[in-house]
Amino acid sequence: MSLKEKINKDRLPSHIAIIMDGNGRWAKEKGQDRLYGHFHGVESVRNIVEGCAELGIGYLTLYAFSTENWDRPEYEVTGLMELLVDTIRKEVETLNRNNIKLHVIGDMSMLPEYARQELQEALQMTAANTGLNLIMALSYSSRWELLNAVKAIATEVKNNGLDPDTITHDTIQNKLCTSAFPDPELMIRTSGEYRISNFLLYQLAYAELYFTQVRWPDFRKENLYEAILDFQQRERRFGKTGDQVKAETADTNAL
Ligand code: IPE
Ligand code: IPE
Ligand code: MG
Repeated sequence: MSLKEKINKDRLPSHIAIIMDGNGRWAKEKGQDRLYGHFHGVESVRNIVEGCAELGIGYLTLYAFSTENWDRPEYEVTGLMELLVDTIRKEVETLNRNNIKLHVIGDMSMLPEYARQELQEALQMTAANTGLNLIMALSYSSRWELLNAVKAIATEVKNNGLDPDTITHDTIQNKLCTSAFPDPELMIRTSGEYRISNFLLYQLAYAELYFTQVRWPDFRKENLYEAILDFQQRERRFGKTGDQVKAETADTNAL
């Protein structure tokens, strides 16, 4: 039985989020420039997007560039932006063929004008698709997102008479860039780093975390299947006891 066949199709994570890390080290290990790693990382993106679409995953969020990544050497930032624009231009057709809808989250005002335009076009061209939702986190950081959410709520209190006592989790959720998406159920980070690096801090509250040593340019569908199988072995308790969860599962199965 292949890894793919072992996956329980009834218990797929509805939303997978990935911190695509390790491009630079992958390249250095081969005696190459960091940009060579980013270039090869694109092949992994293609492969994983295809893998998620084939499985019928609803949402895939890819952390492609963080707010903090702007502080990298200028030549790497420029190279990454060019790679991004070039990739989007080339991939839009494939996205459409596979019914994939592109979304972006992050501070688009930081992006160079040509990149913003290219993204805007790709968003429009895939807007009617109804299959996998592919969410690119670009110039994104969770603290940036939360700061904006707090400012937006404070503005509503000040200008629109919003009563602070009526603020709920939904009020916050609605102000996040991800308001249209369910929270990720599985978060994968490649390359052996065990941290979140300012990614979806609020949304990952109950995500299952999966870390692998595999560098992003080497990450392929088989690695994704391993992560999903690992996810399916876990008991998700959401604060309850294991016995409660088992009883609930038995009730659901009896229906
Ligand atoms: C991830 O790979 C891609 C981006 C952050 C843009 P890195 O570039 O962080 O690679 P390492 O972590 O230095 O190996
Ligand atoms: C996180 O990776 C951001 C992306 C993958 C886009 P980094 O490589 O920037 O994170 P740190 O600096 O190691 O925490
Ligand atoms: Mg890194």
